[in-house]
Amino acid sequence: MTYLYHLDLDENKIKGAKIALLPGDPFRSEIIAENLDKNYGEIAWKREYCSYLGDIKGVKIVVISTGIGGPSTSIAIDELSRIGVQTFIRVGTTGSIQEFINIGDVIITSGSVRLDGASTHYAPIEYPAIAHHEVLYSLIEGAKRANLRFHVGITASTDTFYPGQERESHVLRRFQGMTDEFKRLNVLNYEMESSTLLVVCSVLKLKGGCVTGVINSRTSGDKISEENLKIGETNAIKTAIKGTEIFIDSFYKIL
Ligand code: URA
Repeated sequence: MTYLYHLDLDENKIKGAKIALLPGDPFRSEIIAENLDKNYGEIAWKREYCSYLGDIKGVKIVVISTGIGGPSTSIAIDELSRIGVQTFIRVGTTGSIQEFINIGDVIITSGSVRLDGASTHYAPIEYPAIAHHEVLYSLIEGAKRANLRFHVGITASTDTFYPGQERESHVLRRFQGMTDEFKRLNVLNYEMESSTLLVVCSVLKLKGGCVTGVINSRTSGDKISEENLKIGETNAIKTAIKGTEIFIDSFYKIL
């Protein structure tokens, strides 16, 4: 038996689950679990890591929050991989940086700009942060099946919400003008975990992907309201659940 110190999990608790859905917010774990097929339940809650276990199409799924940012995300993936989890789908929220993206749209990350530090502890900065093709395909089909407006492309993944995403007064020179530059470079959005997730998964031979729901727009005011948060969260969850169903149908093998 392998006891995971940070997550308070072991093989018995996750009952052979090989797929993990990863929100950032611990209170979002239960909301995601409510969308699983049946008999879901909380299996652990330590620090930022709130874990539920349930089923999709008869396949065990673990839902576990990562907390905000790369360091805690890397711990969640690294530890879960030691007890047999192989596929990791981040289910998060995001701020758009392109005018054509609306609140509530879903963004499926094909690759991330690595503005985090944690991923550099796993691979040099030249190494790409890219989604696994099977997870990417599944999330795209999931968004279509959920009938949602979605975009597939590059995400800027930062270690900080404020200076790293060019907010407030204390923005270092190297970050000034970055949002406009990313816009010109066809980057779609800002969030804070995908680059760590995608690099750690590639390095550890795991399958990683990321879907986020848009809750604010950097091109029109940057306001985050309760209502927008709910719309973004709900649409990301719908895509992740449908996407996981497609992943199970198309790629999942019981070993
Ligand atoms: N999450 C982020 O990291 N940035 C945003 O603007 C919204 C959500």
